[in-house]
Amino acid sequence: MNIQHILSEKIKQAMIAAGAEQNVEALVRQSGKPQFGDYQANGIMGAAKKLGCNPREFAQKVLDNLNLDGIVEKLEIAGPGFINIFLNTEWLANNAEQALNSEKLGIQLSQTQTVVVDYSSPNVAKEMHVGHLRSTIIGDGVVRALEFLGNKVIRANHVGDWGTQFGMLIAYLEKMENEHASEMELSDLEAFYRAAKEHYDSDAEFAEKARNYVVKLQSGDEYCRTMWQKLVKITMVQNQHNYQRLNVTLTENDVMGESLYNPMLPAIVADLQAQGLAVEDEGALVVYLDEFKNKDGDPMGVIVQKKDGGFLYTTTDIAAAKYRYETLKADRALVFSDTRQSQHMQQAWLITRKAGYVPDSFSLEHHNFGMMLGKDGKPFKTRTGGTVKLADLLDEAVERAEKLIAEKNPNLTACEKQAVVEAVAIGAVKYSDLSKNRTTDYVFDWDNMLSFEGNTAPYMQYAYTRIRSIFSKAGIDPTQLSGKILLNEEKERTLALKLLQFEEAVTTVAKEGTPHVLCQYLYELAGIFSSFYEACPILNAEENIKQSRLKLASLTADTLKQGLDLLGIKTVEKM
Ligand code: ARG
Repeated sequence: MNIQHILSEKIKQAMIAAGAEQNVEALVRQSGKPQFGDYQANGIMGAAKKLGCNPREFAQKVLDNLNLDGIVEKLEIAGPGFINIFLNTEWLANNAEQALNSEKLGIQLSQTQTVVVDYSSPNVAKEMHVGHLRSTIIGDGVVRALEFLGNKVIRANHVGDWGTQFGMLIAYLEKMENEHASEMELSDLEAFYRAAKEHYDSDAEFAEKARNYVVKLQSGDEYCRTMWQKLVKITMVQNQHNYQRLNVTLTENDVMGESLYNPMLPAIVADLQAQGLAVEDEGALVVYLDEFKNKDGDPMGVIVQKKDGGFLYTTTDIAAAKYRYETLKADRALVFSDTRQSQHMQQAWLITRKAGYVPDSFSLEHHNFGMMLGKDGKPFKTRTGGTVKLADLLDEAVERAEKLIAEKNPNLTACEKQAVVEAVAIGAVKYSDLSKNRTTDYVFDWDNMLSFEGNTAPYMQYAYTRIRSIFSKAGIDPTQLSGKILLNEEKERTLALKLLQFEEAVTTVAKEGTPHVLCQYLYELAGIFSSFYEACPILNAEENIKQSRLKLASLTADTLKQGLDLLGIKTVEKM
């Protein structure tokens, strides 16, 4: 359930009845302090100001028009005109009961939008590196939240699979094949790309062939296309392996690379020109944007077609936005990429809108993120200064987790141990990224992410197993609890309220593309459960209280598990 939404709607209606405009907002938020209630409505002052009336008097009018019987215990006007909302404890208990008995933890608001999520998006014939890690992990977390709430998600892996470098790559693949290179040699993409480039730079004959292949590939030559497809295939097989290890939901079917849009580009550029948006400048076609200034303070020029006829990254993104609206019939399109691409995205979309390819109602969102830094505060690199390959990073995570788990719990069976190591290693890498506000750079620190204390994956996973062990140790089946949830103690009530705020956290993730909100929620939930568990004995309590507390514990475990699952992080029953 979404308490914030329920309260917002009711209060909004009361505000309208009290004279406010139709589009008024109640601005209901969770309260920071218990004396201000469970929630507070902050929209009264703004609305009163617009109406030119006294805010406290307006607040009273709103209360006169507000019927929250059964939902709230008490409503209070506070300070200059806040409304403090104290929820009815019985209502909380009933809803907690329902959440426990429902399949999706009481999620009530079913969202029905079609959302394209452009994420991961590595480049062909290049190994995925840590820079693609953030996009992959954060994007997948948001995808899961969107789907959980009922939206139709179209995953768009905007793979860099087109461009002039493919002539060189095809020529080199040909050379390798002629020399009967092994799969092994081909699978080292980083080395492959480097060698191709070396040949291109040093061997004139090779370079000539490469340039010839670009032209042939672009005109649909069969041989070049087959070779190109091979390159894409080799890359994507490796990426798929990374996705699996990362517990990321992308499949081969989700690839919608740059090449998909290539055939659409000539018509788009011609149309931009016909509309007078693109103009010729020294042989290239350029769109001048008033909204962006260059260093001389003049409108910035964005090239959509080069002098030699080639198209650009921007042209492709214009086509992609159009396609997502027109062909995929999406309501929203989200792109997860580096902050350094922000200006590029904004420009591509501004041109898309100016050209009238999408209506205002279609939401184009760049969910940008900062860099991953090493402990020294500089961009994350290998010891020798190279880019860190994703696969190597995950290998190291597993190695470190193995040591950690062997120390923590030497009694696990080999099979149990493997599952725990896998969950902790991958979970730690993902969670350390997901738990930070994505817009800032963050420091990649093994010791922090593998710590059992603080807002980390091991802490969260351990919190889950601890609750589950209450049941397993006592031989109680959590699906066979009886009686009603009782919230007589303050700690019980606090826990129930937090549990009922799960949907609010997931809704924010889906709306803002910010998985750290869910991490923070789960971390707080685990903390609230701990203080409940300390203050409220479970197994020694009277039977009806014991059953009730077991129910709260069970709902907490379910919520932690579901929440971590939405982040793409596995839980284990024992660790
Ligand atoms: N392939 C790009 C890169 O490696 C990211 C693509 C992001 N998506 C987009 N529609 N531009 O930087």
